[in-house]
This record gives sequence, C-alpha cells and structure tokens, in this order.
Amino acid sequence: MTRPFHLGWFLGNSYGVHGWRQAWGGTTARDWAKPDLQVDMVRALERACFDFLLLEDSLFVPDNYGGSTEFYLSRALRAPKNDPLPLIPLLAQATKHLGLVPTISTSFYPPYLLARLIATLDLMSDGRVGCNFVTSTAARAAQNFGLQDHIEHHRRYAMAEEFVTLVTKLWESWDEDALPMDAAAGVFADHRKVHPVDFQGEFFASRGPLNTARPPQGRPVLVQAGSSPQGRHFASAQMDVVLAAYSTVPEMVEFRADMRRRLAERGRDPDSCKCMFVIAPCLGETRAEAEERFARRQAAKQASPELVLAQMASLTDIDFSRFDLDAPIEELTTNGQQGTLRQFLAQGRTLREIARNYRYGMDDLIGTPDDVAARMDEIMQEVGGDGFVVTGPVTRRYLAEITDGLAPALQARGLMRTGYASPTFRANLFEF
Ligand SMILES: Cc1cc2nc3c(=O)[nH]c(=O)nc-3n(C[C@H](O)[C@H](O)[C@H](O)COP(=O)(O)O)c2cc1C
Repeated sequence: MTRPFHLGWFLGNSYGVHGWRQAWGGTTARDWAKPDLQVDMVRALERACFDFLLLEDSLFVPDNYGGSTEFYLSRALRAPKNDPLPLIPLLAQATKHLGLVPTISTSFYPPYLLARLIATLDLMSDGRVGCNFVTSTAARAAQNFGLQDHIEHHRRYAMAEEFVTLVTKLWESWDEDALPMDAAAGVFADHRKVHPVDFQGEFFASRGPLNTARPPQGRPVLVQAGSSPQGRHFASAQMDVVLAAYSTVPEMVEFRADMRRRLAERGRDPDSCKCMFVIAPCLGETRAEAEERFARRQAAKQASPELVLAQMASLTDIDFSRFDLDAPIEELTTNGQQGTLRQFLAQGRTLREIARNYRYGMDDLIGTPDDVAARMDEIMQEVGGDGFVVTGPVTRRYLAEITDGLAPALQARGLMRTGYASPTFRANLFEF
C-alpha cells in the first residue's frame, strides 16, 4: 500500500563553498559567503513540500591528508565555512513551513547558550527549528577549544546525552502558560510558572531557568546521525529523527530494526523516532541520459581516489596518504567517526578499491524522476523507514532537478506531501 514518506535535504558543507569548478555552478562559489544560495534553496524546498533543510557544520580546518591544509584549502573542502546559525533567521524569513535544522557540537557548545539560542530561533520562526547534535569528531576541532587530544569517542556520546537532557530541561523551565501578558493585572510573565532546573550532572551543571521563554514547539526537533553502537544508543534516548548513510537496503533494514529495538528498550514508542536515509539521486530526462550522467560521475570518482581518501581522513583523523593505494589495507581504529570508518573499510581490500567503491548513502538511484520515485517507494516498502534526506554537490540545477523534477513525481505517486497541515515543524514531521 502506498503511504507518503518524509523528505529532508542534508546540505553538506553547509554555509561554505558550493559549485566550485563545477558545471552549472554559476556564481555560487564566488558568492559563497552570501546567504543567497541557501535562501534560494529553502524557497525551492518549501515549494516542493520538503520537511526540512539540515545544515551540516564542523569546527576546524583539516590537515589530515598528507599532514597539510593544502589539499583541503586549495579545493575549498570544509573551509572556508561560515557559522550556519546566523543563516537561520534569514531562511525562516524566506519561508513559512519548512523545518530548519542547524548543527551544533555537544562537545564544545555550552548547553545553556545552546538552549537559549535554539529557543530564540524557535520563537522567532513560530516553531520551525530543530537541532542536529554532533559530538564533533576531529582532534583539530578539540584543539580549537583548548584540548590537547579529543575526548574519547564513547565519553563524547555520554556527554552528548547529558547535554541534551539539560537542554530539554532548560526549554521546559518555562511552563506553557507562563506568559499571561496581562496588562490590566500588570503581569507579563508569571513568576510561579518559571522554574530553576538545578541540574547537576557528570559533565554539566546549570541552575536555570532559561532567560527566554519556552520554545513554541516545547522541544524543537532533535536530530542525530551517529551510526556506532554508542551513536545509536544516544539517538534512542531522546531523538525525534535519526539519519543514516547506507548504500544498500539490507544495511538500512538492519539499522532501522536495531533502532526500533533500542527505542523499545528505553521504554519509548519505536514510532517516536523517524529513521531517514541519505540519498543522492542521479536524474535525467530519459533513463539513458541519467545513466550517462551517472557514468560520468563514477569516472570522475575513479580518476581521483585522493578526493575520497582526503575526505575520509578529515572524518577519521587517519592520514590515508601514508598507505600504498594498492596494498591490502590493515585494520584501522579511530577516535573520530567510528561507524563511518567501519563502513569505509568494508568496501574493498585496497585503498584504491575502497575509494572506487565508496558510496555515501544511496547514490545509485538513477533514471527519470518517475523511475527514481518508483525505486524510492520500493526501498521504503522494504525498509519500512520514514523517508530520505537528499544530498549531493549543490548547484541550482541539481536543486531544481530534485525540487521541480523528483518531488512532483513523488507527489504524483502519493509518496510525498503536497501541503503542510500544521504550523510547526514537529507537528508536520509527526503527521504521518
Ligand atoms: C546525514 C548525516 C549528517 C551528519 N552531519 C554532521 C555534521 O553536520 N557535523 C558533524 O560533525 N558530523 C556530522 N555527521 C556525522 C555524525 O554525527 C557521526 O559523527 C558519524 O555518523 C559517525 O558516528 P559514529 O562514530 O557514532 O559511528 C553526520 C552524519 C550523517 C550520516
């Protein structure tokens, strides 16, 4: 039976450089520091009835590949990158319904400031904000915040869970009816309905209450994307959405089953957390055109394995330039992104093979918009998940292909919403 699913967009490199040396990039690279591309994006995503835009973020200039920043800076990989938070009010002003999800680091942001920042944005946007909680995985990021070495992977997740607990308590420190705004009685806020939280945890402490009011959604939408057992455990505690980048249906099935088991173990309704999967469709007006474009995409990947290896180096803090591309690769461990490294190493025997085979999410959805819509339907039926997040190198052309090509094809099949029933992001997300 056809049932609609949710669509989000995961904007990798976020408020950084897009379309650099890319066909159809237009002026996006030159205008990287202006908000125009992201403003155009949210208008297009809302027209197409997406649930949300998620803005990735990271807090370092990588030098993991070859021990130099050169590879990254010369290609504008991960830097320069602006802070995505100041974009949110502009994106909210350009839209009425779309959910907006900035990324923040639970390892380096003070919870009180984050609770206040997200509450402010939720109040400004009438309940359309979420938050992607990441632990920040790079040692270089830790060094930007005064640490010599990064906090250990599992401990970071324990901190993250406590961080989110505190943030939600701060959001709840104002009762729903704390603002009578009764001019006749001279009471704007009712002091009996604003409470300290007196939180004393292992990693964080805060007295509270928050000095801004309760966010309209109560809890802005909580998002997370870790894939290790610790990442999944964290997601199962409080998250509303968990994102995963798998390239095969069996991996998606395993992930969702495991998440549902973990949610139930924590006493939560398994349907209270949406599982969404990363896709990067390759579209054409005909199937042959799409296949030709995909073949070109693959050829570009094969021609420069360094690009994949340098990107993976910045996610795992492993300098892959140290290894022979054609020798069998040894077992490696990381204090960075553990699930990502595991998935990466499973792609082949040698680094060249791995780089050639490596896929971020499901990138082999190839065809006309209707072909791809049909395949997405099949995948959701097999996985039983809640939808997809689209990603890929962003140009306005790629954006239009998805929002003006794929989205209408999904809508024609009854697989995607054609309007927003509720005023808030959370209510739309849990409408189905
Ligand atoms: C769709 C998606 C979006 C992500 N966004 C970010 C991000 O913005 N910033 C970041 O530091 N990590 C991001 N990550 C990485 C995850 O937060 C996490 O570190 C990674 O999946 C590895 O987690 P693990 O060590 O638990 O396996 C993202 C991952 C996925 C799949």
